[in-house]
Amino acid sequence: MTGHQGIFKELADRFGDDVLAERLRLQVDYAATMSGKGRGKLHFENLGKLTTACRIGLALTGLTKRCERESLNFQIERIETTLPTLPVEFDGLRILQLSDIHIDGFVDGGTKLQESLRHLEFDLCVLTGDYRFLTYGPYEKCGEKMTALLKKIHCEMGTYAILGNHDFIEEIPYFEAAGVPVLLNESVHFSRGKHALYLAGVDDPHFYGLDDIKQALTNVPRESCIILLAHSPEIYKEASGHAVDFYLCGHTHGGQICLPGGTPIITHGACPRSMCRGPWSYREMQGYTARGTGCSGVQARLNCPPEITIHTLRNA
Ligand SMILES: [Fe+2]
Repeated sequence: MTGHQGIFKELADRFGDDVLAERLRLQVDYAATMSGKGRGKLHFENLGKLTTACRIGLALTGLTKRCERESLNFQIERIETTLPTLPVEFDGLRILQLSDIHIDGFVDGGTKLQESLRHLEFDLCVLTGDYRFLTYGPYEKCGEKMTALLKKIHCEMGTYAILGNHDFIEEIPYFEAAGVPVLLNESVHFSRGKHALYLAGVDDPHFYGLDDIKQALTNVPRESCIILLAHSPEIYKEASGHAVDFYLCGHTHGGQICLPGGTPIITHGACPRSMCRGPWSYREMQGYTARGTGCSGVQARLNCPPEITIHTLRNA
């Protein structure tokens, strides 16, 4: 059995033939569309023009170097969130969230990101998707670079990941070989005393649309404290309907290239603008959309520095 056959057999055993077949079919369609071979809604031709226009615009305004520097100017965001359902045993829990790493796109190869993580203290780490720079093509370089990064992240409760719209399902074995489970419509729980905290993760809602919260929350008691990892904020209504307490996501990059004051020009999210960066809430549910650590399209940020987020959870 070849390497790819082995990966596919393992994934089919875990998620079922139908789910794997649908994911792979969409990946092929998406890759064909993005490489200009398909007739879908997203055309690489258009995206290429957009990123080229962005590069030219930055060069003409003399902003290229500044934007490149800003893309590595990681801000540590410390966010405290109160969840009434959080068991007292988990009061003070610190969660490191890294989103939209796009690790093979860093102009410095990812050195500064690793440096920025070195002295941080946290109990749990979550990765909310988009590890690859491009949305198609080879994923091996991304897998190898993520493996190296994951080896530098250590915390008591472990690291958990989900997939974003830049990720192929074939990336999963890289994470899991490094001891990082990828939650693909699945959940885990952590017990302290008589109580538990649930962490669920769904497949990418933005492009692939294979998110299944109901499946992810199988065997999760509705009244328990539930943290959901989803790549984009776009399924907030559904998550609220499933009694999710805390929704962690990214995808929007906070706009990446923003007007002064951080106002995004484009958000790439089918949700209210207020949900495209930072903390937000919907009914009883708290949410947080990270600006991300990496970039897509061009390795440039303007008025929107990359972030490394440390969430502290409180029960009152
Ligand atoms: Fe992204």
